[in-house]
Amino acid sequence: MTLAEMKQLYDENIMGTYGRAEVAFVRGRGCTLVDSEGNEWLDCLAGIAVCGLGHSHPAVVQAVADQAERLMHTSNLYYIPTQAEAAAELTSTCELDKVFFGNSGAEAIEASIKLARKWGKQSKSGAYKIVAAEASFHGRTLCSLTATGQPKYQEAFKPLVPGFVHVPFGDIGAMEQAIDDETVAVLLEPIQGESGVRIPPDGYLAEVRALCDRHSLVMILDEIQTGLGRTGKWFAHQHEDIVPDVMAVSKALGAGFPIGACMARGEFADVLVPGDHASTFGGNHLGCAAVTAFLRTMKSDRVVENAQVMGNYAVERLTDLAAERPGAVKEIRAKGLMIAMELTDGVARQVLASLHGRRVLANAIGDHILRILPPLIIGPTEIERFVEALSQSLDEAGATGAP
Ligand SMILES: Cc1ncc(COP(=O)(O)O)c(C=O)c1O
Repeated sequence: MTLAEMKQLYDENIMGTYGRAEVAFVRGRGCTLVDSEGNEWLDCLAGIAVCGLGHSHPAVVQAVADQAERLMHTSNLYYIPTQAEAAAELTSTCELDKVFFGNSGAEAIEASIKLARKWGKQSKSGAYKIVAAEASFHGRTLCSLTATGQPKYQEAFKPLVPGFVHVPFGDIGAMEQAIDDETVAVLLEPIQGESGVRIPPDGYLAEVRALCDRHSLVMILDEIQTGLGRTGKWFAHQHEDIVPDVMAVSKALGAGFPIGACMARGEFADVLVPGDHASTFGGNHLGCAAVTAFLRTMKSDRVVENAQVMGNYAVERLTDLAAERPGAVKEIRAKGLMIAMELTDGVARQVLASLHGRRVLANAIGDHILRILPPLIIGPTEIERFVEALSQSLDEAGATGAP
């Protein structure tokens, strides 16, 4: 099928919810994607922080193929061996105790919110309000959209779910002020991803942890984008040596297989009981085979360490590149391989188009921010290739920072 034929079928049959680049990928391996015309691309977006092991990692392919041949789905009415294994692998990466599997990030957030609300009902006099952050992103279902602190995504769908308050991200005083007797939880991304890799001040998460302890609040972290090695630790909260009560995980979890998880610790791990929450597909045989293969490969190949080392290297090289163009780059924000370059000129979309012209994938957020989320297995050669393409693209797009 040609791209033109594909586009025709899209126009006729697919709802127009996405603006898509003029390319369709048909194969991939590592950091390389191959388009429908046979061209090779360097992927520095990893399916938006999903393909941590790169594309079609042999260990995951084998596990999924073997499992597909054996058994794909039976439902949660029965025990699922791969679910047991996947959950044990996942809980061994952090200090949370138990897992509920769903199919996406938004579902992991929904489960987290329901868990907190039920805990509020039974243990905190019916408290139900959740304090979240402005400019956050938690998903597109009605409740995760309500939690998302971006009115532009919400306007068309009001009225939203009651009980959410938004405060400036990184401002502990504002958070404390927003808490009242009806507050049950705080919900935050450790680093805001979708709004441009916005990193809070050092110590902020630890302060939020202390605040939650003082006010008996459930601390919910959305580690859907930051989790599973992206920031150079298994989870971003581990940079501050704290543990949330509840955590939403997804994206990288299935190495491309759609799966998400709500994790909880201590008393919170036993709040949801039969009848409270469920998902037909959640944690099915196939998805959990992918999770286990992904996590075991991450561990055996020390991929989290690679994300840390390569993240530092990428930032070094991007800093060099910025220094060659004084004034053009306002800021580089990064933790591990979660990287944003904020441009002084509003040419981020032009830079991205120029990168695409060089067959390199990244992401533009608005007019000023380039987001770079490569596979966590990326090496120095690929980083060099990216930096060279970016250098040419910044020039081509006229990102000079000149007044
Ligand atoms: C931090 C965060 N939370 C939640 C979501 C929603 O995940 P999904 O699109 O899988 O529902 C995303 C997706 O980008 C995200 O980055």
